[in-house]
Amino acid sequence: MKLEHGALLVVILFGATVVGMGYMVTRTHDRRTTAAERLAHQGESRKLEPLWAAPDFDLPDQRGGRVSKASLQGRPWVVNFIFTTCKSVCPLLTAKMVQLQRRLTEANVHFVSVSVDPAHDDVMTLGAYAQKWAPAEKRWSLLATRPDSLAAVLEGFKVTAEAADSGVDPIVHSSIFVLVDAAGVVRGVYDSEHREEFLALARDAALLAKAGAPPAPPRARTGEELWAQLSCAPCHDSPSLAPPLGGLFGKKVELDNGLVVEADEGYLLESILVPDAKRVRGYPLRMPTYDGVIESADLVTLLAYVKGLKETGPRVAPQTAVDPVCGMEVMIDPQALSAEADGGSSGSSRVFFCSESCRDQYLGHR
Ligand code: HEC
Repeated sequence: MKLEHGALLVVILFGATVVGMGYMVTRTHDRRTTAAERLAHQGESRKLEPLWAAPDFDLPDQRGGRVSKASLQGRPWVVNFIFTTCKSVCPLLTAKMVQLQRRLTEANVHFVSVSVDPAHDDVMTLGAYAQKWAPAEKRWSLLATRPDSLAAVLEGFKVTAEAADSGVDPIVHSSIFVLVDAAGVVRGVYDSEHREEFLALARDAALLAKAGAPPAPPRARTGEELWAQLSCAPCHDSPSLAPPLGGLFGKKVELDNGLVVEADEGYLLESILVPDAKRVRGYPLRMPTYDGVIESADLVTLLAYVKGLKETGPRVAPQTAVDPVCGMEVMIDPQALSAEADGGSSGSSRVFFCSESCRDQYLGHR
């Protein structure tokens, strides 16, 4: 399996090498600045100029249908690149995608997430992923790829996916979001890791979308609705990704710099608006900021809701295991795929997998 995974990455890398050199972008640990990132960072001065024609594609989506460039004609759309087994940057990218969906209430905007992992992300997997993150969002299409169709799409958007030599995820890929207009022309490239660019993307997409009268944003009434709409749950209900917030208010929190602080109201507020200011110990994943995303009245409601969340279990730091088939590091949580370890029923130890295909392979070989 290690080999097969390698082969996939070779295919992706091959796709990456045919990409126009000027715009190659990779998200690497040392954060090299590439031409695409520089292009992205010029957002303020670029003023939505036409950049290049988006590539043609025709790919299966999570609803069992197909989505093509032609089918998106007539409305602006935003596209990013993800894979569902990714535990590092993708939850953050998807959280940004959901934030964007909430900001852009226009019915005619569309959102597209292209999977860069043809081996694991089939239509069913993408469907479950969409269900987890934004079950009610009808404007979001998650597209399954094959190595050849993926290479073409990556090339057409001038982004790359490539193997990581270390870390949690085997495929390192672009944190770039691309904005395409109703005629299928790329109008902006934004690095979602930069807050100003993310806000510029929301603004530019709204400009393109405001053909008709902007409908009034659906105002959330309760903290519970905000909690669901802002997608706090997919991370915070999964103890391996983010700390459970039940019973947190008033407790002591251990930070990654060794300090211990009290989770008072100021701390909760700061956690939502400036999450990187104080990082809870033991969580490699970063939380996205909600500054500028959430109105102050809603913030007060959400804060009261978080304060009132009841404790459900002990707060424990996430545990990881190594997938015996592909060697990837996986989080051990209630949703983790697992099987009884080789050696039969006498020992009750379990092994954990990144995907069903790895588990099937493991079970098939014994
Ligand atoms: C992409 C995943 C993700 C999303 C979405 C997310 N968080 Fe977080 N959050 C984290 C992680 C990871 C941490 C711990 C690391 C840190 O402190 O930055 C955290 C920490 C926190 C903390 C401090 C927790 C503690 O134990 O001290 C609070 C409060 C919080 N988040 C609230 C929220 C709220 C409210 C929302 C929705 C508006 C939200 N988060 C959305 C990942 C996320």
